[in-house]
Amino acid sequence: MSSPLSFREGADGEADVSSLSGNPHPPGPLPEGTGVVRHGARHVAIIMDGNGRWAKRRRLPRAMGHRKGVEAVRSLVRALGPLGLECLTLYAFSSENWKRPEDEISDLMALMRAFIRSDLPEFIANDVKLKIVGDYKALAPDIVEMLEDALARTAKGSRTLAVALNYGSRQEIARAAAKAAQTGPVTVDTISAHLDTADLPPLDLLIRTSGEVRLSNFLLWQAAYAEMWFIDVLWPDFTLAHLEEALANFAGRERRYGGR
Ligand code: FPP
Repeated sequence: MSSPLSFREGADGEADVSSLSGNPHPPGPLPEGTGVVRHGARHVAIIMDGNGRWAKRRRLPRAMGHRKGVEAVRSLVRALGPLGLECLTLYAFSSENWKRPEDEISDLMALMRAFIRSDLPEFIANDVKLKIVGDYKALAPDIVEMLEDALARTAKGSRTLAVALNYGSRQEIARAAAKAAQTGPVTVDTISAHLDTADLPPLDLLIRTSGEVRLSNFLLWQAAYAEMWFIDVLWPDFTLAHLEEALANFAGRERRYGGR
């Protein structure tokens, strides 16, 4: 059950993730005048940080920050095609997030259920393939079932939304190394081949919002040669324009991968 301070739930007990007033993420097509940046990035990942601070600044419960964060997620997923991105990976729930109060964990899980339920038809219509990275099978059985249904129904999509759930990069690397060891030599290539992200394009750009400058156990292996972009904006305020700004900056970077 969610906390008394949590977001409103609909009649069916689902989190209501509809818009608040002053929404920086209006529903519908991309805003007029959004110039699509030529960036060359295939895969962007985001550490969506700052939901709690966003809510605190407004004297709202933390759950409202998370709920607003879903709207930011939705507007970026809608932009995948127009931006020419093959994959967007979002850090939604880390293996360390279990340390948070029970109420907050159930709020986040309720949001995940509501998001999948409400947005799955749009994923299918927009050719978006859902992917989950992390040990999601340890989540509540109804969520696992819902996710697996969504994975199957979006399997043919051409652009990937990868959601990191119960994800920790060290754990992922350890799992991959153990699997590699079962089948032969443990090398960079065999570990890579067993990571949860093995079927995704190489990570090009890693973004963290809210002004924090650390990776927090997210995509440590995959980030070896990714470009980084840290932005002060709190996640619920992050818009398509911020992503375009990051991609424009990425476009100007020289990537040498240790060469010269
Ligand atoms: C970090 O903000 C954010 C999270 C731990 C959860 C992110 C989840 C969402 C945006 C909603 C669900 C996602 C999807 C894909 C439907 P924080 O709470 O640590 O913020 P703070 O550092 O300001 O306290």
